[in-house]
Amino acid sequence: MLIASGLAAVADAASDPAKVVGPNACAECHKQETEAWKGSHHFKTFSEMPRSTKATEIAKKMGVRRIRTESLCASCHYTVQQKETAQQPIAGISCESCHSGGKDWIKIHSEFSGKTILFESKAEAASRWKLSESKGMIRPRAVYQLAKNCYGCHVVPEEDLVNKGGHKAGSDFELVSWSQGEVRHNTWHSKGRDNVPASAARMRMLYLVGLGVDLETALRGIGRAKARWLYAFEMAKRADRARKQLAAAAKAAPNVPEIAKMVELGHAAGLKLNNERALTAAADGLSTLLVRITETYDGSTMAGLDGLIPKPDKYKGMARKPAS
Ligand code: HEC
Ligand code: HEC
Ligand code: HEC
Ligand code: HEC
Repeated sequence: MLIASGLAAVADAASDPAKVVGPNACAECHKQETEAWKGSHHFKTFSEMPRSTKATEIAKKMGVRRIRTESLCASCHYTVQQKETAQQPIAGISCESCHSGGKDWIKIHSEFSGKTILFESKAEAASRWKLSESKGMIRPRAVYQLAKNCYGCHVVPEEDLVNKGGHKAGSDFELVSWSQGEVRHNTWHSKGRDNVPASAARMRMLYLVGLGVDLETALRGIGRAKARWLYAFEMAKRADRARKQLAAAAKAAPNVPEIAKMVELGHAAGLKLNNERALTAAADGLSTLLVRITETYDGSTMAGLDGLIPKPDKYKGMARKPAS
């Protein structure tokens, strides 16, 4: 793993450097998705972040001399690859930061079981995807795993970095609005003709699972907090906000009883210091429940949530439109 044990949450989010093939390898086939990525903050942070005044300030307070090679910063801002003798940052947040390191699945997922797309049977395609997933690939349908990666970075669950370094303790991250703007690259299944938004049913899943993971990540963050200071307050605020949003969702979609269970779990442990065991148990319970939700529902019966889901005017940045 990239970093020492104290940074467990960050290590979750970062993909294993030994498995990283780098975005150029993906770009060979995924040209449109790569173009969309190049227009995002995730791409630009590689060159821009270390040059900003704020970065220098944070680095100074943290005793970091070279941001580029500091694993603490790299774990959230960069894609790190294992080279022969050392680990090297090779890009900003890239394909494998979200879809996971590709070394063991890049060939499998793209080879149509050694045939061509026309001659691969349905059963063969299904087993190709199953194998790819067992090798670590996070596909778009794995909403929970995708969300875990986003929130693992965006909640910024790092106490020292926030309290001592003055780094932002996360932001108003929400999965629909933050995935459907500049990050959107749904250009493959339309063969590059369009960059289609997620379907209405999928938006509901993104919204609900996003809130659940927000709460889960914040509970774990409070559990690890040591000081009655900014970081702990921010994490507690975050957990409380997610609980309230989930309570509204439970009311709006009473046909999905799992949402009320999530709210219950959110209240199962006090949002206070020295409570790691109870907070972690609640977070683990949420995790199990969220996986079950993704296995049971596809969003089609959750129209009740539509009034709560952020609309396009709230999307973060502009989605790239491919040239037709
Ligand atoms: C040799 C060409 C090739 C390379 C290289 C490649 N892909 Fe793919 N990728 C494909 C093909 C072909 C499909 C669609 C397969 C299908 O629809 O059955 C695909 C589909 C996908 C999907 C959609 C999966 C789904 O559930 O529909 C994702 C995500 C993906 N690739 C990510 C990546 C990433 C990340 C990399 C780099 C680590 C990568 N690919 C490298 C050819 C490639
Ligand atoms: C746990 C993940 C995480 C770690 C670790 C982390 N960052 Fe960040 N950083 C973020 C996220 C997420 C944002 C974007 C905040 C937002 O708007 O949501 C950000 C934003 C920033 C920004 C403001 C945006 C910019 O590019 O100017 C700076 C500066 C920054 N980070 C510097 C650092 C430095 C320096 C380190 C290492 C000492 C570091 N970060 C470590 C997650 C992290
Ligand atoms: C910030 C996380 C993130 C990054 C970085 C990222 N992806 Fe994705 N990718 C996703 C998510 C989330 C979806 C599903 C989006 C949705 O449902 O609207 C997705 C969907 C896809 C799809 C399916 C597209 C379709 O038309 O349905 C492909 C292919 C893909 N990604 C490949 C890539 C490649 C290649 C890269 C790098 C150039 C990349 N992704 C970078 C998160 C990411
Ligand atoms: C490996 C850590 C990491 C992961 C995983 C990650 N992000 Fe980010 N993201 C960042 C950092 C760091 C920044 C700030 C980059 C900068 O501006 O310097 C950022 C910036 C963004 C921005 C731009 C925000 C702005 O200021 O306009 C959006 C939108 C975004 N992320 C969405 C997502 C979504 C959606 C996912 C999951 C599908 C995701 N991110 C996954 C670390 C990550």
